[in-house]
Amino acid sequence: MKHIDTPSTPGKFKMEKSPYNRLRMHSSLAKLTFWSLVFLGLIFMFFFRSPSSSSPFTSDLNRRSLRTNSYGGPAWEKRVMTSAKIRSRNGISVLVTGAAGFVGTHVSAALKRRGDGVLGLDNFNEYYDPSLKRARQALLERTGVYIVEGDINDVALLNKLFDIVPFTHVMHLAAQAGVRYAMENPSSYVHSNIAGLVSVLEVCKNANPQPAIVWASSSSVYGLNTKVPFSEKDRTDQPASLYAATKKAGEEIAHTL
Ligand SMILES: NC(=O)c1ccc[n+]([C@@H]2O[C@H](COP(=O)([O-])OP(=O)(O)OC[C@H]3O[C@@H](n4cnc5c(N)ncnc54)[C@H](O)[C@@H]3O)[C@@H](O)[C@H]2O)c1
Repeated sequence: MKHIDTPSTPGKFKMEKSPYNRLRMHSSLAKLTFWSLVFLGLIFMFFFRSPSSSSPFTSDLNRRSLRTNSYGGPAWEKRVMTSAKIRSRNGISVLVTGAAGFVGTHVSAALKRRGDGVLGLDNFNEYYDPSLKRARQALLERTGVYIVEGDINDVALLNKLFDIVPFTHVMHLAAQAGVRYAMENPSSYVHSNIAGLVSVLEVCKNANPQPAIVWASSSSVYGLNTKVPFSEKDRTDQPASLYAATKKAGEEIAHTL
């Protein structure tokens, strides 16, 4: 009877160790090594690529990360105290977030003129030309308002400011504004308008004395409504942009505290 090399499992046959097979094994090994190297190279590129080549999302988070300049020390604290010092009899001391912004600059200057103590806080982000914000900073500096460069998500910095100054009020204007920019950089809206708002509210809640907070929402919360003029009783559940949605979320968040 002819011996047939039948495998125990149908379909499985023993491979013969011919020189041809050895050659194939070598070539497979070479291929495996090559693709492993390619794979490792890709991993290396992913983790060590330069920031300039990173995605807009990552680079923005880097730019917007808590990049508070070094702060602290007697000279810095003195600057903070001098700026926040109340100059009129019934004056208040106000922390103005977003002080280098369009509204924040005017509010800070007006409060200062009235004799209130004013300290600014702004991260000077690049949503629009930061040189404009720097010019406003210089303008406020001349009126005696110091803007601390920092992010509202930097809770340690916020706590430090409250340790130095017993603010009676917080004018919270720091935000990611604009409707179209959400297409380019959605995370910036969450970072400033939601996470940042929560940081500010939490710090204020724990401060002693507790400051009164004024916060700016936006008419964009009325979204797709066609009725004008707007009324606070109008629907606000049809936002037409991420900006509007984060401002609406801010209104709800403020209610929880
Ligand atoms: N300008 C308007 O017509 C208008 C209308 C409705 C509501 N608002 C609201 O008023 C406020 C001020 O608006 P604006 O026009 O002055 O905007 P703006 O962009 O000129 O000013 C905002 C400032 O906040 C700063 N900022 C943003 N994120 C920050 C962060 N995470 N930490 C620290 N600083 C940060 C920015 O650098 C900027 O200087 C915003 O809350 C905006 O939503 C403005």
